[in-house]
Amino acid sequence: MHSLSFDIETEEFLRIEKVLLFSGAVSVTQTLGNCDVFDEPSLSEIAKWSTCRIIALFNTRSESDFALSQVSETFQVGTLKQDELSDTDWSKSWKEEWLPQTFAETLCICPSWCRPPDNSLHIVIIDPGQAFGTGSHETTSLCLTWLGQNLSLLDDACVIDYGSGSGILGISAIRLGARHVTGVELDKDAIVVSRDNAIVNGVQEKIAFVEKIAPEVENAADILVANILFKPILELEPIFHRLLKCDGVLLLSGILASQVDRVVRAYSERFSIELLQTDGDWALLRATRL
Ligand SMILES: C[S@@+](CC[C@H](N)C(=O)[O-])C[C@H]1O[C@@H](n2cnc3c(N)ncnc32)[C@H](O)[C@@H]1O
Repeated sequence: MHSLSFDIETEEFLRIEKVLLFSGAVSVTQTLGNCDVFDEPSLSEIAKWSTCRIIALFNTRSESDFALSQVSETFQVGTLKQDELSDTDWSKSWKEEWLPQTFAETLCICPSWCRPPDNSLHIVIIDPGQAFGTGSHETTSLCLTWLGQNLSLLDDACVIDYGSGSGILGISAIRLGARHVTGVELDKDAIVVSRDNAIVNGVQEKIAFVEKIAPEVENAADILVANILFKPILELEPIFHRLLKCDGVLLLSGILASQVDRVVRAYSERFSIELLQTDGDWALLRATRL
């Protein structure tokens, strides 16, 4: 098996996929890759990552070479990388990259093909797939760690997971004691994935995934977790204020350390807000609705 991988503008995916399939690809996978999350679209645009990584698999090297020439002649893409994978091991080697991850010594995000390291942990099964949220990105792991550290706050709480992606944060919140979660996600495909993930984890009765929350809903959440991006976070302040109960807790992630001051300024009139933690370039903020 031969792989060809490279980074592209996400909007080019369908055109490039056709060329790859025409060149003999037996599978074409789109992953987050090296996307530049700082170049984010405004809320009025489709709020998705702007670039993604393509991994195409071919039975023969000549098909992979042909695809490489077709793609590099026709599209502006990042560096193209070719690899040979042994026929027997290629699917296994892909899976071997995904191991169970433990957060705050309480929560374990575990791919379906792995055995959890410790049965006393709260286990959430998430397989890497089409929607963002496996726990490996810093912005997600900061939130998961906070959830794992705050079991008393989560106990019987109503939670909103805004920008729910794969549903990883909302499903974890249920696992850690929340009574009900609403996941809000504008990507319809991600909603399908997150509903499947809820069923796999047996929490579908306690979690609903929607594209929008009706404007008349207010004072609904004890906790609202938003791992989105800087610009939507600035724009969503009025909605978060409306959805949270008084004294409700807002967790903001997807913010670069260099953007923290601007978020604090935008929220400090109606929230008491503080920087909780950083991981690399990424910051986690906690706010309480006044
Ligand atoms: C960084 S991902 C986070 C996914 C997951 N919650 C996690 O923590 O891994 C952000 C998600 O927010 C969604 N999103 C962005 N803006 C949104 C908005 N205004 N309303 C709902 N979802 C939004 C995107 O489609 C994407 O799935």
